[in-house]
Amino acid sequence: MNETLTTVATPKVPKALASMAAKKLLINGKWVNAASGKTFESINPATGEVLAHIAEAGESDVDAAVKAARKAFNTTWGSTKPVERQRLLLKLADLIDRDYDEFAMLDTLEMGMPISRSSAGRQRVVGMIRFYAGLATAIHGQNISNSLPGSVLSYTVKEPVGVVGAIVPWNGPLSQAVWKVAPALATGCTLVLKPSEQASLSPLKLAELIEEAGFPPGVMNVVTGAGATGAAVAAHPDIDKVGFTGSTATGQAIVRASAGNLKRLSLELGGKSPDIIFADADLDAAVAGAAMAVFTNCGQICIAGSRLFVERSIHDEFVHRVAELAGKMRVGSPLNPSTELGPLASRLQFDKVMGYIKSGHDEGAKALSGGASANTGELANGCYVQPTVFSGARDDMKIVREEIFGPVISAMPFDSVEEVVQRANNTSYGLGSGVWTRDVSKAHQVAGALKAGTVWVNCYLQLDPAIPFGGYKMSGYGRESGTEHMDHYLNTKSVVVRLS
Ligand code: NAI
Ligand code: MG
Repeated sequence: MNETLTTVATPKVPKALASMAAKKLLINGKWVNAASGKTFESINPATGEVLAHIAEAGESDVDAAVKAARKAFNTTWGSTKPVERQRLLLKLADLIDRDYDEFAMLDTLEMGMPISRSSAGRQRVVGMIRFYAGLATAIHGQNISNSLPGSVLSYTVKEPVGVVGAIVPWNGPLSQAVWKVAPALATGCTLVLKPSEQASLSPLKLAELIEEAGFPPGVMNVVTGAGATGAAVAAHPDIDKVGFTGSTATGQAIVRASAGNLKRLSLELGGKSPDIIFADADLDAAVAGAAMAVFTNCGQICIAGSRLFVERSIHDEFVHRVAELAGKMRVGSPLNPSTELGPLASRLQFDKVMGYIKSGHDEGAKALSGGASANTGELANGCYVQPTVFSGARDDMKIVREEIFGPVISAMPFDSVEEVVQRANNTSYGLGSGVWTRDVSKAHQVAGALKAGTVWVNCYLQLDPAIPFGGYKMSGYGRESGTEHMDHYLNTKSVVVRLS
């Protein structure tokens, strides 16, 4: 590994960052500069400071990474025994567990995730890798009964698809990367990982640990860079599958770019998820649940329950209570363990969210809490936004139709089950949804009627590696987590043998 540190060391940068090796590309087991020599800056959104300079991969770098991944697939990894893939994944899980505090710090510094949240992700990330490690030795085809004349044996075999391009976003830098890397490695695929330009540091460290664990060179390659680097991955003729998480617009661009070689895609895109509160719900739990369905990670979650539908008889009181809770939430430095909302991940995201808040005011919604930036006092140089609860929102408002990806709730009353189901489904998205009620029949009835990949009943944001996750409609296709996730990385081959 190259020792040249390109990190901008300031006294405020903790050791976790300064100890990182050079921010280079990983190609064929070697850390290298971009062919062009270009780099880009990683910015701390809490302070505006430069954290690191990171190599910006161009088309030729992506091509070199794909060649390395192809070679590793053909010569080593594609034919590795399942038990060996499992052993290395379990080793990787242990290494991540060992270094988890450092990962948490990197995500907190680079995208502003409160340290309480980044630190709490250990079990999710480590558990996810162990889940896929388990599945690595459980891949199997089927023996198929057929009706062909004579005696004919037919069976299926599962084979890894080959070289996978993983294009990930910044809102959960480590967990999003692991979510694509682990099933790819478990199935025998090799990887070209493209982290978000807003948050590359923990994916780079993940790659370091993959090396340390002993995966063969070329199995994992990392090409850091922005949209153009991602576009080169999406269009590359020798990538067999792309797994993508990010915006719907970029997902559509990737679909177009994939046409050249018809590479397989799985897309986890945006959302505008409904959270529905019935009057018979446990309201104490529902108030906290509705608030955290949006304010978690400062609203930068694809499943944010940002359309809050509240049954009319309790609407005013309920929304008032959510706003009261929002008003008490601690906005501050993400490094402070008691902070609940840190800054948004970038100036770009801050400007976008402030634009939506202005649009909410302009269209006549009433901010019961927040409704403004929080860049004051010692937070002046950051990208802070007050947790905002808009009351008096309407289905046709921009804040109700479009994904904000910030700490903004739009609350609206409803009168009947039929009405709220129709309005909840009246969106081009279909990722998450929430239902709060003590009536079991109503809960299942609404869960059945919602057009969304996940329905949470009397809870929200509950994710588990064993539970499939993904979207309906323009929230994307393909499921991550669950055993079916593995199928996205596998081809099914049918073998038909005439015996007599
Ligand atoms: P984005 O979708 O543009 O970026 C996600 C990833 O795709 C990044 O790694 C980026 O470099 C890459 N990318 C960008 N253009 C590409 C292209 N043409 N081909 C291939 N890869 C490309 O999202 P961005 O700009 O970071 O955020 C914009 C909005 O997207 C957010 O405000 C939010 O609404 C949504 N978003 C949704 C996420 C989710 O979890 N579903 C995650 C991140 C953003
Ligand atoms: Mg950043």
